[in-house]
Amino acid sequence: MGRIYDSITELVGKTPLVRLHRYEEAEGVKGHILGKFEYFNPSGSVKDRAALNMILEAEYEGKLKPGMTIVDYTSGNTGIGTATFANAKGYHYAAVIQPGVSIERSQILKALGAELLQVSDVPGFTEMLKTGLSQAKLEEVMENFARSKGWYYINQCGNPANSRAHIIGTGPEIWEDTAGEVDYVIQLVGTGGTLSGLASYLRTKNPDVKVIGAQPAKQSLKDSAFPERNTIDGVLKFDGVTDDKVPALFNYFHTYYDECFDVIAEDAYETGRKLVKQEGFFVGQSAGAALWVATQIAKRPEAAGKNIVVILADNAFKYLSTNMYQ
Ligand SMILES: Cc1ncc(COP(=O)(O)O)c(C=O)c1O
Repeated sequence: MGRIYDSITELVGKTPLVRLHRYEEAEGVKGHILGKFEYFNPSGSVKDRAALNMILEAEYEGKLKPGMTIVDYTSGNTGIGTATFANAKGYHYAAVIQPGVSIERSQILKALGAELLQVSDVPGFTEMLKTGLSQAKLEEVMENFARSKGWYYINQCGNPANSRAHIIGTGPEIWEDTAGEVDYVIQLVGTGGTLSGLASYLRTKNPDVKVIGAQPAKQSLKDSAFPERNTIDGVLKFDGVTDDKVPALFNYFHTYYDECFDVIAEDAYETGRKLVKQEGFFVGQSAGAALWVATQIAKRPEAAGKNIVVILADNAFKYLSTNMYQ
């Protein structure tokens, strides 16, 4: 008999690394592009890893008691993962939704039974958004809110258990699946949990691994003047920002990256459309952006024959209402 699993939590981290041969050929690249398909996680994204590990560490530390409500500020994927494991483990989940994220994300959260809150439901949040969001201010506002309700604030942006999910999971998986032959790793940044965890783990194994970040280019950032712009959902600009905007987890883990690319949303979308036609993999916006970066690196002479691991954070189903696949 094959393996029978006991719970959905056991399915986290069973994500394959796939050589994208046909995509490589069509793009005329020299390096080997290896996609780490994180949508194979049970609720469909890389953030399942962080969600589960933050819950497990909070249980271990006695901060999360049976039946409690977990609350967080989320652009969707961490929320979807947390709601999923909260259901499986008997907790409630309340999500304060980041303004402007794709409609599918809130629909999924609702379907999972999460309580959906707008930033205006949290005292002090709207005022904070006007003066500029910083990690310290966000933590204070959310912490006060959670305390007033008797809830547990899981704090994906400041919780090192988020990065540790990649130190114990994603990093070792990549190392084993490439038999230590990993030359580059590429990921975009929301909380920075994935990139900080991967950098910490992979550099202990090989200090020469190139850690590459990517972020939406200036012309692909939504703001009040351009609310309808094409963007890359769920990720932030982290390079070339003021110190208070650097992800707290980068500071905590002393993360540095070798290079950061600015990606135009349309390039990310076009890359996603090519990938599904050439390989059949139907990925989301940050995955399209990460793969676009991998393509740029793979064309460099020094990348010939090198293994470029690209984190493909989620699939396309959450972006059908956006311009990516229309
Ligand atoms: C689609 C997508 N890609 C990438 C990321 C970045 O992940 P991290 O928060 O680990 O930086 C996120 C974060 O929510 C995401 O939703």
